[in-house]
Amino acid sequence: MDQNLLKKEAAESAIQFIEDGMKVGLGTGSTVKYMVDALAKRTHDEKMQLTCVTTSSRTKDQAESLGLKIVDLNDVDHLDLTIDGADEIDKNFQGIKGGGAAHTMEKIVATASDQVIWIVDESKMVDTLGKFPLPTEVFDYGLTQITKTFEDLNYHPVLRHYDDGKIVRTHFKNLVLDLHLDQIKDPHALADQLDHQVGLVEHGLFLDMVNKVIVGTENGPRIIDNIR
Ligand code: 5RP
Repeated sequence: MDQNLLKKEAAESAIQFIEDGMKVGLGTGSTVKYMVDALAKRTHDEKMQLTCVTTSSRTKDQAESLGLKIVDLNDVDHLDLTIDGADEIDKNFQGIKGGGAAHTMEKIVATASDQVIWIVDESKMVDTLGKFPLPTEVFDYGLTQITKTFEDLNYHPVLRHYDDGKIVRTHFKNLVLDLHLDQIKDPHALADQLDHQVGLVEHGLFLDMVNKVIVGTENGPRIIDNIR
């Protein structure tokens, strides 16, 4: 089955968990795009009052154009629920995000949320994290030094470019260094190390953050609760 259909199926299933009056975090990516379409329709049809916070200008533009009410994260004390995509999820519900270079905003929004749901197609479910290069957001200042640090650690950093050769910039105008690790045997140890790396703004390891994963499969959406 087409990967986009599986993403759409997971996305459309997720909006059942949104209730009238909620403050909702909206993630970023192609799967979230389907979710925002479905959410805007439901909000309109059922005349729901939602307050939404976005994790990228892409999602903000889409959500606003569809009539969803968007506020700044600083204008809410907390979020009830955030729905976001993911690049990899392992069997312990740990994830890699940042394929869309939005992981810094996504992590801040997820951390402000009571509940987090990830929506993915089944290709994102893995035994061990790491085949997907781990995104890190870094400053221009000290790029040479932090690249060397990662090279010395055999993390194989690659500065992210668009297909047309232009350098990728995050919302905050920083750079993305993708770490080609192949296998992350101890995600918590790596996250701890990266959390202490000077010059690193944020990394794409999202650990112990998700409450529910909705996987689009050939047999329909599979809803998996992370009982913690
Ligand atoms: C953006 C992300 C996305 O959620 C992740 O890359 C999944 O994207 P998609 O739904 O397009 O596969 O982390 O920074």
